[in-house]
Amino acid sequence: MRKKIVAGNWKMNKTYEEALSLVSEIDNMVKDEVNGDVSVIVAPPFPFLQSVGKLTQGNEKMHLAAQNVSEHESGAFTGEVSASMLKSVGVEYVIIGHSERRMYHHEDAEMLYKKMKTTIAHGMKPIFCCGEPLEERDADRHFEYVGKQLHDSLSYLSNEEFDQIVIAYEPIWAIGTGRTASSEQAQEMHEYIREQLAKMFDAEAAYKAVILYGGSCNPANAKELFSQADVDGGLIGGASLKSRDFTDVIKSF
Ligand code: PGA
Repeated sequence: MRKKIVAGNWKMNKTYEEALSLVSEIDNMVKDEVNGDVSVIVAPPFPFLQSVGKLTQGNEKMHLAAQNVSEHESGAFTGEVSASMLKSVGVEYVIIGHSERRMYHHEDAEMLYKKMKTTIAHGMKPIFCCGEPLEERDADRHFEYVGKQLHDSLSYLSNEEFDQIVIAYEPIWAIGTGRTASSEQAQEMHEYIREQLAKMFDAEAAYKAVILYGGSCNPANAKELFSQADVDGGLIGGASLKSRDFTDVIKSF
């Protein structure tokens, strides 16, 4: 059995007070309502990481993620946050290669590779995001596109490094649009991703890899998506900002 994960990507939302009440609500609901073996990850903005982490410390189901990390170790990089800083405030996972960062911050495959290397070297786990834009889907090139994203950023990692990675498939046309991939579209891409991983690493490692679906995943569609053989959970944006919705997604396995 593969690990099940639901991760909430808060993006650039919430003030300090709002962040603390959101995470307290999630923490309580998870304690009261979630029985199964599922890891819940919250990814608040940088300034709230430490306080959010402290609030969830006593709950073994809850884990802390950052939304980004610098590829550099330390030094004169104004505005950046390093892996050792994240590790020192209790971060366990780092979202790397989200389509918004690839698009608005021009993060390329080599930079993402370096971010994964430093994240793993500091004892944290990357959540590596991939996914095609609408024009690639419409032109029936989505498999090729995602395959290249995986190959370009992951293929230089060692087997041991790969073991630390969680993959998130997020078709760009489904992010924040209310348009979800159908469960068939998600399953066929997740299966393809696993096949590619088996070619790059080994079959057992690929079989064990956790592959999350992201893109307008919510309490109404999570059950069907999570019931697919190769969908091991979700990376949730909009629906992770409401404790009730997020908990209902967590309970959808
Ligand atoms: P969404 O975002 O759930 O709001 O579509 C998902 C994501 O970008 O991680």
